[in-house]
Amino acid sequence: MSTRPLRWGILGTGTIAHTFAQALRETATGRLVSVGSRGREAAVRFAGECGAVRPHGGYAELLADAEVDAVYIATPHPAHAEWAIAAARAGKHVLCEKPLTLNRADSERVVAAARAAGVTLMEAYMYRCHPQTERLAALVRDGAVGRLGLIEASFGFHCDFIPGHRLFANALGGGGILDVGGYPVSLARLLAGAAQGRAFADPVAVTGAACLHPEEGTDLHAAATLRFEDGMLAQVACGVSLELENVVRVHGSEGWILVREPWFAAGGHGVTRIELHRRGRPPESIEVAADRGLYGYEAEAFAAAVRAGRPEVLEMSWSDTLGNMATLDAWRAEAGVLYRGEANARRGPV
Ligand SMILES: NC(=O)c1ccc[n+]([C@@H]2O[C@H](COP(=O)([O-])OP(=O)(O)OC[C@H]3O[C@@H](n4cnc5c(N)ncnc54)[C@H](OP(=O)(O)O)[C@@H]3O)[C@@H](O)[C@H]2O)c1
Repeated sequence: MSTRPLRWGILGTGTIAHTFAQALRETATGRLVSVGSRGREAAVRFAGECGAVRPHGGYAELLADAEVDAVYIATPHPAHAEWAIAAARAGKHVLCEKPLTLNRADSERVVAAARAAGVTLMEAYMYRCHPQTERLAALVRDGAVGRLGLIEASFGFHCDFIPGHRLFANALGGGGILDVGGYPVSLARLLAGAAQGRAFADPVAVTGAACLHPEEGTDLHAAATLRFEDGMLAQVACGVSLELENVVRVHGSEGWILVREPWFAAGGHGVTRIELHRRGRPPESIEVAADRGLYGYEAEAFAAAVRAGRPEVLEMSWSDTLGNMATLDAWRAEAGVLYRGEANARRGPV
């Protein structure tokens, strides 16, 4: 087992690439050594901002960098599959931004490539690595609110329409379901699983709808109901042009739980609170302390898996990702969101 810090390369130089580069500075287990951009200029600029980082004018060039152990894929969604597969084949461990791919069929190809190459692969749902999420799952697992009946979860923000922007453009996998809908879906699946003493559970039925952009056909906002085997329901909503409450409520036979900052946990630093309302008792505020940033937790969880020689990261396993993608496929099918070029992707029941 190696104790050397994991040497990271980042593909893409946009918003989340900067956030992750900053997070790596706060971790002891990894350091950024390299960045790849479609254009050399952007790579040089990014490298200059980060200090002592090698710029590559092309993603393939970064994958050929022998001093890179792991890559973080921070491109728009449609490029994830191609570069995650190429990275695995180049022998790099892969932390890929969510959604892992546009659909489950492509995610299966990525997982197969990681398995064949013997590298670690994780879909970067960072909130899964934060202690608040583990505390919430533990409350459900321990029956804090009795038998679960309904989960309500939303993640939506307002962005004015920008032609060609990745949040809206069909060609860039635009729309809320893939950008932020995966958060409430993944949390509902996590808690449905926790209620049964499992890592996650997949819904047996998904119904959904969306408001689509008239030209792009991508979802501006969307909602879905997930039904699980034991009768538990989840109502999830998302949007890229509709600000939502962005909270999680978990209703059980003995009370309910409220999480006010389920996705970003106040940036991950300091203390966040889970509200527990048990029937017949005064409300409780459960404090969860965090000693690093949200993305720092993710980088540490990933590095721990690599160090241990584990291909999967416990917080977001491959089967968990595949189940999440299948649920998003089903939601998109209900809502009529189809990306040009993916007409042959396998669609159907969860
Ligand atoms: N986990 C989180 O909290 C979180 C937050 C935001 C976004 N994300 C995910 O991260 C990914 C990137 O999101 P972002 O907000 O960082 O996007 P962004 O700001 O637009 O940056 C994306 C980068 O990808 C590269 N790229 C490659 N092909 C591209 C294309 N055809 N068009 C535009 N850019 C292209 C560009 O870098 P170069 O030109 O340098 O190659 C660009 O700077 C998405 O999949 C998103 O879901 C995750």
